[in-house]
Amino acid sequence: MCGIIGYTGPRKTTNVLLEGLRRLEYRGYDSAGIAVGRISGEPRLQIIKTVGKIAALQHEVPKDLEGAWGIGHTRWATHGGVTRENAHPHLDQSGKIAVVHNGIIENHRTLRILLEKKGCKFRSETDTEVIPHLISSYYEGDLLEAVLAALQHLEGTYGIAVVHADEPGRIVGARNGSPLIIGVGNGEMLLASDITAMVAYTNRVIYLNDGEVVDITKDNYSICDRHAKKLDKKIDEVSWALGAIEKTGFMHYMEKEIFEQPESIARAMSGRIDLENATAKLGGLNLTKRQLADVKRVRVIAAGTSWHAGMTGSYLLEQVARIPAQAELASELRHRNPVVENDSLWFVVSQSGETADSLYAMREVQRKGATVLGICNVVGSTIARESDGGVYVHSGPEIAVASTKAFTSQLTVFYLFTLLMARMRDMSREEGTRFANALAAVPEMVKETLNQRDHIQAIAKKYYRAKDFLYLGRGILYPIALEGALKLKEISYIHAEGYSAGEMKHGPIALISPDVPSFFLVSDDYLHDKTISNIREIKARGGPVIAVGVEGDTETQALVDDFIPVPKADPRFYPFSMVVPLQLFAYFCALELGRDIDQPRNLAKSVTVE
Ligand code: G6P
Repeated sequence: MCGIIGYTGPRKTTNVLLEGLRRLEYRGYDSAGIAVGRISGEPRLQIIKTVGKIAALQHEVPKDLEGAWGIGHTRWATHGGVTRENAHPHLDQSGKIAVVHNGIIENHRTLRILLEKKGCKFRSETDTEVIPHLISSYYEGDLLEAVLAALQHLEGTYGIAVVHADEPGRIVGARNGSPLIIGVGNGEMLLASDITAMVAYTNRVIYLNDGEVVDITKDNYSICDRHAKKLDKKIDEVSWALGAIEKTGFMHYMEKEIFEQPESIARAMSGRIDLENATAKLGGLNLTKRQLADVKRVRVIAAGTSWHAGMTGSYLLEQVARIPAQAELASELRHRNPVVENDSLWFVVSQSGETADSLYAMREVQRKGATVLGICNVVGSTIARESDGGVYVHSGPEIAVASTKAFTSQLTVFYLFTLLMARMRDMSREEGTRFANALAAVPEMVKETLNQRDHIQAIAKKYYRAKDFLYLGRGILYPIALEGALKLKEISYIHAEGYSAGEMKHGPIALISPDVPSFFLVSDDYLHDKTISNIREIKARGGPVIAVGVEGDTETQALVDDFIPVPKADPRFYPFSMVVPLQLFAYFCALELGRDIDQPRNLAKSVTVE
């Protein structure tokens, strides 16, 4: 979604801002802009805004644009259409104060009426524009004081960065519900909504909490609360290398991230399998053995791909650890007045750790007394910090909007947790060893499946013109079918539905025709024969079938039009190998269709609005 970058220091400001905005592109946006303070002559802010990509913005920026500090923004429209006027930065009446904003100001209508009465002329339809006007109404020569006064009137969520033409080199930022991070450099400072925007310049960062305000110049920063009380905060060092956020020879981030999965899965389990005791070690749960032993139920909150990981995890926990488990859609749960039982353990799964639906649902159940563990990728993200404990998945930065490697890492964490819980209950040491060894073998299994790349590309070339797809699986492969359908929708814009294969006969079968291909996931477990029957029902009605099945499953292979084999393994682990062909199929269909694979239309990487 929207992204913020701010810079003050000796480098060419426009370069740092444009580079930062380029790094934020992956979050999804539809317009962008920068405000750069002029250092010589009459103090003035130079504003450049465009609809469309950063490349278009760069084109508009004069080569000789000078300035030693500035702010930039990528906008994902919420209030007001995608226009140049609605793009950020927004200015006050005098044009001296510029603001970029992530989030939503809920009382913007009331504030706008008040400000208009005072003579402010609004130039955009955004909620954001009330902020510079409000700051201006309090400005008496000190930007921080004016921002603090203005914040008292803002209701809603915000991450903001503010500059004033008359205060060279100074940027003031504030956070309430939308991330803001300070980058501490040597003789330079940055402010951004996402670490990726500044990782090229510094790895020393300070995460702001809600209610905190920051004041930076090139050599200094100070942090206070909304009542100007000074706060001391520690600097964190992030370990991301720049290479982790570059394409390193792949055509798209998505392709790179699909192929990284053997390593990212290995990282997620690194140091967490205890083979000697045939169990798992998860350090950050913050729960005693007794508390874990007392858990009677697990509930998972998540959205999108993370919800599919949570659903797979729930199936596994129930099947293997014999703990009733259920995955909940965050956007539904929050507004359902959920019942929070004393003996339930909650998880919230979120790659970004910023998804508003998941965050608010987490807060709602916490309010009712729930203990919530986070399964996040982004270190220091809001969910990671506000949860009661948790596990980082260590995927490394995931840049493509469509999630792939974070998904399989989230699965890994659920498999580890299941092993831990199962071993505290009925699972024997022998069975625990078998499970742990099968888990340790997952990276190799995924690596072998990736060898099907060319075969899957050929299948995509055969089917990408189809307008509708069905994705079908049973048991633990049902959430994987949902994930396959979501991937295809997200990046190729082909309509796809995920269904439980058993449910197909209760409605979706009416869709079957020679133009509607079905993607089947076929395990070699107790559900094999039932799934085969479902394939026959489709074949009998003239529907083409592609199957991902187990190597050597000649029965399925003979029945379907196209077959993608995965290595034979413990069937409980097929979610890892079987999701890979679905990711690649979606990728290659999108490639054939010429889609914007890493930044699909209308989508955002971390959705910070409800
Ligand atoms: C957005 C993305 C999805 C993602 C979902 C949850 O909708 O477009 O791809 O799965 O958010 O994101 P999270 O960061 O919470 O895992």
